[in-house]
Amino acid sequence: MTAARVSGADLRVRTLPPAAGERAVAVPGDKSISHRILLAAAAGDRPVRIVGLNPGSAVGVLVPALGALGCALERAGAAWLVRPPAGGLPREAAGVLDLGPSSAAARLLLGLLAGAGVRGVVTGDATLRSRPMDWVVDPLRELGADLRYLGEPGRLPVYTGGAPLHGGRVRMRVGSAQAGSAVMFAAFAARVPVEVELEVRSRDHTERLLEALGVGVHHTGMRVRMDGLPPNLPGEYHLPGDPSAAAFLAAAHVLRGGRGTLRLPGVGTNPTRMGFFEVLRACGVPVREEKRRQVHGEPVSTLVVGPCSGSLRPFTVSDPGRLHAMIDEVPLAAALAASLPGRSRIGAAGELVFKETNRLVTTRDMLRAFGARVEVEGDAIVVQGGGPLAAGAVPSFGDHRIAMAAAVLASSLPGETTVLGGACFSTSFPGFDRALSAL
Ligand code: S3P
Repeated sequence: MTAARVSGADLRVRTLPPAAGERAVAVPGDKSISHRILLAAAAGDRPVRIVGLNPGSAVGVLVPALGALGCALERAGAAWLVRPPAGGLPREAAGVLDLGPSSAAARLLLGLLAGAGVRGVVTGDATLRSRPMDWVVDPLRELGADLRYLGEPGRLPVYTGGAPLHGGRVRMRVGSAQAGSAVMFAAFAARVPVEVELEVRSRDHTERLLEALGVGVHHTGMRVRMDGLPPNLPGEYHLPGDPSAAAFLAAAHVLRGGRGTLRLPGVGTNPTRMGFFEVLRACGVPVREEKRRQVHGEPVSTLVVGPCSGSLRPFTVSDPGRLHAMIDEVPLAAALAASLPGRSRIGAAGELVFKETNRLVTTRDMLRAFGARVEVEGDAIVVQGGGPLAAGAVPSFGDHRIAMAAAVLASSLPGETTVLGGACFSTSFPGFDRALSAL
């Protein structure tokens, strides 16, 4: 029986059978690395065949945007072939670059345009236009970029004026990996050295990718120095599976008793992304890695979750680095906490206010619709778990991470839940309904 199915804009979820035996489920390619390799390939000097690109709409928005920069992107079987424009990126984009809902695509592209000296306008949908862009614009301006707000200050649309970028040192004032990565992409495209002082050590895919491409990247404490060398792109690039997508399936397995073993093959296990799996371990869930290898500088493994024995413990997250290692999994961790006995607390989560929705509030309200006891206390979500939870109609607020967290919790409850607007999971995880049902 299908546990999850799309019905119009909604996602309907029924109880999964208790987890037992051995299961293996594949997850889509990493969304963050997909954005980065597409941008690096667009600024390169040879075609790159990309295998395992994330198929979600948050990555798909880059296809027309890069087309407007003279790149040819075509599907080649299960892969994408990206041909950068001959002679490099143009002086001017052919049309407005609309990145829809994707903050990573917009912020990283702003960096690339600023570094490559391309004149153009970057914008997004109404939600993205309400999210902060000054995190990216301010440090880029410090390096000489000519960036202008065309609407409200600090927000998209932003005009990139094509001024040359000089190297230097910038200090980030937020933990956002997108902000630091935008600066690194700018320096990469301009071929100038830069030193970025990070606020928090958040996901480091940009550093790893650029290093794998031959750009010298040096780490000293919270500082990352890049030496401005030209990149050497491979003819073929293979992406790992997305650990954020894997987290939803792992949680569904655990919430259904976790008696058997769930194998998630080919998943990226970069430590800056493993926070949710650390939480599972802290709760008492066995998580191990098999077939560990390095691909283009990224660790990749088969993640093995379970079997669980005995009751699970509540958990606390208070360190900003640990929080950033699970920043997209906070709604999911809170959903897990709702069914654990005792009080769990996820702190240092202030940046969640600036996600697709204010995820402190939308996580709380989604879980309360199940009957969970959840509070937002300053920059923390506090869950008093173990109380009765009931299936029903719950909101997703059009936010893919909220929708999938709700669906996972629903899959452990008797009855049918309608996740309103829950079909938005395709932003990052097309096929989530099938993958959940496959459990
Ligand atoms: C991302 C970084 C995170 C994450 C987002 C993707 C990236 O955002 O929430 O889904 O690709 O760098 P912040 O860096 O703004 O925290």
